[in-house]
Amino acid sequence: LLVDKANYRHFMAKEIHEQPEVVGQTLARYVDMAAKRIALPFELPFDFYDIKRISITACGTASYAGHVAKYWFERLARMPVEIDVASELRYREAPLRKGDLAIVISQSGETADTLAALRYAKAQGLHTVSVVNVPTSTIARESETVLPTLAGPEIGVASTKTFTCQLMVMAALAVAAGKGRGELSDLDELKLVGELIEVPRLIAAAFAIEPQIEKLARDIAKSSAVLYLGRGTSFPLALEGALKLKEVSYIHAEGYAAGELKHGPIALIDESMPVVVIAPYDRVFEKTVSNMQEVAARGGNIILMTDATGASEATVDSLVTIVLPDMAATFTPMVYAIPVQLLAYYTAVVMGADVDQPRNLAKSVTVE
Ligand code: G6P
Repeated sequence: LLVDKANYRHFMAKEIHEQPEVVGQTLARYVDMAAKRIALPFELPFDFYDIKRISITACGTASYAGHVAKYWFERLARMPVEIDVASELRYREAPLRKGDLAIVISQSGETADTLAALRYAKAQGLHTVSVVNVPTSTIARESETVLPTLAGPEIGVASTKTFTCQLMVMAALAVAAGKGRGELSDLDELKLVGELIEVPRLIAAAFAIEPQIEKLARDIAKSSAVLYLGRGTSFPLALEGALKLKEVSYIHAEGYAAGELKHGPIALIDESMPVVVIAPYDRVFEKTVSNMQEVAARGGNIILMTDATGASEATVDSLVTIVLPDMAATFTPMVYAIPVQLLAYYTAVVMGADVDQPRNLAKSVTVE
């Protein structure tokens, strides 16, 4: 397999920039673009009406895609979802119900813990769907239904483009579930698919903030710790932001639900603490702004990732405001992934870290 870096310094940069294209390819596989309807590549061997609960399992970045998807399934399909990291699901004897649905998410399709979780779910008599980037992988072979991400080979050890492609597949599946259970009308589907169709263009537009992030990375590189905050679907994105920064720059970072700030991490806030707040202008924006006020009152350096509306509505002065395109609220994580990934990337570059091959990490973890 020969993949080169094209004109990029690192695979990670190349793969981040491929996202408008590969997310678009993935989208085209899951929706009928002309009719604006969900059109899954395979017929599912179950009816969403018969599923009482969904269990989503994955590791690392893929688990955060699952965490975002939990919010989507609950909201759009009114289905209860449990999200687990695979290493926990496999040993805790989780009571899964025969006939329910297990979804595993994995770029490589070879992660040992995720494979074990899939086998566990199968043994309990669940339907199994895998969302994988490698269609010939073990996880793909052993699952009942395979939903591929069309990200192309991902070489950088830290996942980037597969994350947004996983989100696209899960978004399509959540809309299909909502439709299948009668929670979403034809009109709702039309509207949501219309929003999904906009996503690749919005991702492309998000790159306008790249020079600003590159500059910001020079400050972040001087920090010893960074806090990421978000609410709703921006919460798992905060977790992913912190993971990405840790993985490639080795700076300690933590992702937190914005509302949990006062229950602990607020103790860390001082003038030296950058706090990345991910807050598109959505239903929970005002709540996140009040958490930002708590940070500002303690001298924390706020880096606000929002849209034009959010930037004008925020009543707190932030050190830096990163303005992303205005968009409908449901699918923002696919667009906000861009500044989060770029911030980790440029910080690692400033620090001279081995971006594509971070120390101690492996692309695919095939042992426990
Ligand atoms: C490794 C990689 C991560 C990845 C995780 C899960 O730890 O370094 O980037 O998210 O495995 O990999 P998978 O192939 O199952 O998505």
